[in-house]
Amino acid sequence: MAYLIGTDIGTSGTKTVLFDESGNTVADALYEYEMYQPHNGWAEQNPADWWRAVCQTVSEVIVKSGVNAADIKGVGLSGQMHGLVMLDKNDEVIRPSIIWCDQRTALECERITALVGKDKLIKITANPALTGFTASKIMWVKNNEPENYDRCVKIMLPKDYIRYMLTGEFATEVSDASGMQLLDIPSRGWSPYVLDKLGIGIEMLGKVYESCEVTGTVSASAAALTGLKKGTIVVGGAGDQAAGAVGNGIVREGVVSATIGTSGVVFAHTDQISIDPEGRVHTFCHAVPGAWHIMGVTQAAGLSFKWARDNFFAGEKQTAALLGEDPNYIMDKICGRVPCGANGLIYLPYLMGERTPHLDPDARGVFFGLSAIHTKTDMLRAVMEGVIFSLRDCIGIIRGMGTEPETVLASGGGGNSTLWRQMMADAFGMDISVSNSKQGGALGVAILAGVGAGIYKSVPSACAELIGVRETTVFNAEDAKIYDRNYKLYAELYERLRPCFKTLAGSDLI
Ligand code: XUL
Repeated sequence: MAYLIGTDIGTSGTKTVLFDESGNTVADALYEYEMYQPHNGWAEQNPADWWRAVCQTVSEVIVKSGVNAADIKGVGLSGQMHGLVMLDKNDEVIRPSIIWCDQRTALECERITALVGKDKLIKITANPALTGFTASKIMWVKNNEPENYDRCVKIMLPKDYIRYMLTGEFATEVSDASGMQLLDIPSRGWSPYVLDKLGIGIEMLGKVYESCEVTGTVSASAAALTGLKKGTIVVGGAGDQAAGAVGNGIVREGVVSATIGTSGVVFAHTDQISIDPEGRVHTFCHAVPGAWHIMGVTQAAGLSFKWARDNFFAGEKQTAALLGEDPNYIMDKICGRVPCGANGLIYLPYLMGERTPHLDPDARGVFFGLSAIHTKTDMLRAVMEGVIFSLRDCIGIIRGMGTEPETVLASGGGGNSTLWRQMMADAFGMDISVSNSKQGGALGVAILAGVGAGIYKSVPSACAELIGVRETTVFNAEDAKIYDRNYKLYAELYERLRPCFKTLAGSDLI
């Protein structure tokens, strides 16, 4: 029997899963780490934490499963996208990674737009300049920490740093590279034009592969640290969203996923490139060779939930730990007692600014309608509903671009919540399914590794063989009406508050 490993370098932790060639989970392991917020709206992590997590979780799954490392035929890497890792000439990390949800780069985005030109930028990178993307983070370091920029010889994404540590190869792949804003999305290679305008040398960037291509093999030193066999292949892998999409079978038109992880994402496969001229959703290369995808992103989906849970429900969280229960399951139960509509409370989930549909780094979270009758449980329910409204914003734009979903698959940690799935069905006005695999991104990149290793013929055929629908949540027409009404107010609130967010961001209050 052949085995494959999928490792997902996420924001809250790294998860590694060992699969057999039929896609069954043989062993999994998780290692959590910190996200640092040195200022309001900033977010950083230490690449050394990711590497420690990868070594720990890979060796753990090999030991736990008892599988012979020689039978592990390939490794796929999935990772949080957009993060900036900079190495010096001795391969030392220069500064902590500025990660995807960091919002410090509004000025750099203006500068990028001026240098490249708005229309040209959208034509080449398929997106307007965004604070979340890597290009503006590079420009921020250039402008604010020139001594760091001058020492930098290699720029890479989080999972590509892990590839470098595992194989010594300086490489990336199309799906994650799309989120750097330096890639020519239609032609799937670095854009000399954008690089030239931004003054970034192409030699600072790794070689670009398709996601299922072999990029290198595990080195002797990495083998000693992980328990993998020296020479095991490592394929391109994918950005976490494309990886999750492959792991849920979103590899043909009409099937859409709605993922609630730290961020929230609605993701649609497209055979032809399709770009929103206003840039409210991202168009990126898919991990399926020759295909693209559109995705709308909510910055703080699971992040909002975790924020509310950790700040208001510390006692319940502790009880869950004592009972050996998942704290999110308990939250589901508690929140399920509050009626649909959260007793008139509405939450805007803009804790880390917002991408889709507002592209506004200054937006901030809001509870609207708070009165003396409300409890912290109403607030938690409102948080969950606010996240779903934000995903509804995303699906609305994707529909407007002519991609009508036949099926929506819920995924990510939030996709495991029956309550969140029901809210999604009612707010989207359609049934919502979940796939038979709970391993999302890890399975996705293990499939890519299997294609690279020659175990599967292609990404779509492997998905058709391994992935099916486990369960479907039927939408409730009565609750759908309540969500329709609240969604209208939710959308209006942002429009009215937009100038207030600007004022707050420009004040010395934050
Ligand atoms: C996608 C995005 C997030 C991060 C972290 O554009 O920013 O999905 O990759 O999950």
